[in-house]
Amino acid sequence: MQELSVRHLLGIKDITPQDIQLIFETADNFKDVLNRPIKKVPSLRDITIANVFFENSTRTRLSFELAEKRLSADVINFSSSSSSVKKGETLLDTVNNILAMKVDMIVMRHSSPGAPHFLSKHIPANIVNAGDGTHEHPTQALLDSFSIRERLGEVAGKKVVIIGDILHSRVALSNIFALQKQGAEVMVCGPSTLLPKYIKQLGVKVELDVRKALAWCDVANVLRIQLERQQMKYFPSLREYTLYYGIDKKMLDSLDKEIVLMHPGPINRGVELSSDAADSHHSIILNQVENGVAIRMAVLYLLAQKG
Ligand code: CP
Repeated sequence: MQELSVRHLLGIKDITPQDIQLIFETADNFKDVLNRPIKKVPSLRDITIANVFFENSTRTRLSFELAEKRLSADVINFSSSSSSVKKGETLLDTVNNILAMKVDMIVMRHSSPGAPHFLSKHIPANIVNAGDGTHEHPTQALLDSFSIRERLGEVAGKKVVIIGDILHSRVALSNIFALQKQGAEVMVCGPSTLLPKYIKQLGVKVELDVRKALAWCDVANVLRIQLERQQMKYFPSLREYTLYYGIDKKMLDSLDKEIVLMHPGPINRGVELSSDAADSHHSIILNQVENGVAIRMAVLYLLAQKG
């Protein structure tokens, strides 16, 4: 049986193109399961998974929980806002106490970049990074590429532009690594203040004009402006951002080709995307969410084989 090259999923940077293919082929099988009347398999019947979330989440937390339940794992959920973290307990103490209850795997979201990497050096359980600050969000990038593959047949050779707040985005970094490992061409587009200074060193194209970016691409992955992570003003106002970087259906319809429109969510409707664009036939935003469950089932199943 084929297996992953890693026993934790900390980031796309650490995995191989073969790992990505294996995850996709496994997710294809789980997607078939999810479309059956009985959407459940016994694959992780003896495994207990803790979803440990130190940051807010809708899609990722629910998608992991559903993936775990579809695999018949036992599931516990931890949210820092209602926990003893508020009384000063450390990350390591918190996780070690959870593991003492015979938990096998940790799915963690944390606001600090590197938090899951730190944990992986101190605990025996498998760890899945569900987003660490502005660093990586590997399962989001996997479900994004899986959705491109589903819509366009393959990722290799496709031109993908990531538009918006690249500076504060873990989705952008994981997508850049994932797309490049699969042979796609990657561009980033946004105001220069929201593009990291090192971005060209990652081998991506850079475009400041969103209309030129849309004319170039096969796929546009539009990101949210992460106001909660911004310590200063990177552009004069949201209205001005929308004026220069907001995408609406008229812009998409005016292109002389079809492009695929993506967004990891949550969408700020009327800021980076108009409602008529987000809900148009160009959009695969809800397909991304649907595919997230199959991708997370695949990741958890393959990591459980690594013990
Ligand atoms: N895409 C994503 O990570 O969404 P949530 O923050 O709702 O999990």
